[in-house]
Amino acid sequence: MPKRTKSSGAWLNEHVHDPYVKLAQKHGYRARAAFKLLEINEKYKLIQKDTLLADLGSAPGSWSQVAAQMIGDKGRIFALDILPMEPIEGVEFIQGDFREETVLQQLVETLQGQKLDLVISDIAPNMTGNSVTDQARSFYLCELAYEFAIEHLKPGGHFLIKVFQGAGYQEYVSLLRASFGQVLIRKPKASRDRSNEIYLLAKDLH
Ligand SMILES: C[S@@+](CC[C@H](N)C(=O)[O-])C[C@H]1O[C@@H](n2cnc3c(N)ncnc32)[C@H](O)[C@@H]1O
Repeated sequence: MPKRTKSSGAWLNEHVHDPYVKLAQKHGYRARAAFKLLEINEKYKLIQKDTLLADLGSAPGSWSQVAAQMIGDKGRIFALDILPMEPIEGVEFIQGDFREETVLQQLVETLQGQKLDLVISDIAPNMTGNSVTDQARSFYLCELAYEFAIEHLKPGGHFLIKVFQGAGYQEYVSLLRASFGQVLIRKPKASRDRSNEIYLLAKDLH
């Protein structure tokens, strides 16, 4: 058995005492991340009964769970992750690497020409520990998500994405500002203070 490190012990301790972990368990959400989307959605009402949305980097599925609770018969959820995801009623899931053209095409085919109201992306690569590499890999995925969003959102559609502050951040915010009417920067309460992740809500695609 691998030796427990001090930091893994600290992580476990934090996880066990984390109120959002407890709340997620209580409400049956697969991840504490559910509360980040719930907080942002509470304020901006992004998900409506008839919303057509894509959830990029969806596994284990808490954002899709939240969305599935909110949409009605006319809404649809298209989720994608490189990892498998346990099925969620009302969610059409594709497993594959978002960087691969064939996987993107599969997602596009599932849309059947429909334009989306909302794209939500919590996509984040596995961290290698090399901050330069991690930041570059993360922004590459964010750029792909942006390209997908501007291509497949309806005019007036919204795009919510997690990014990491650091190299490339300002340029990315500028990119969003050029394509959307408004870009809001949000740090939900469930996002840990020590994490430099931040959520950008780009509203009203031109
Ligand atoms: C923070 S998790 C998402 C959590 C999710 N929002 C939830 O509420 O359950 C980030 C996800 O991005 C996925 N991911 C990372 N790189 C990817 C890639 N190249 N293609 C597809 N998914 C990817 C990971 O597998 C991981 O499941």
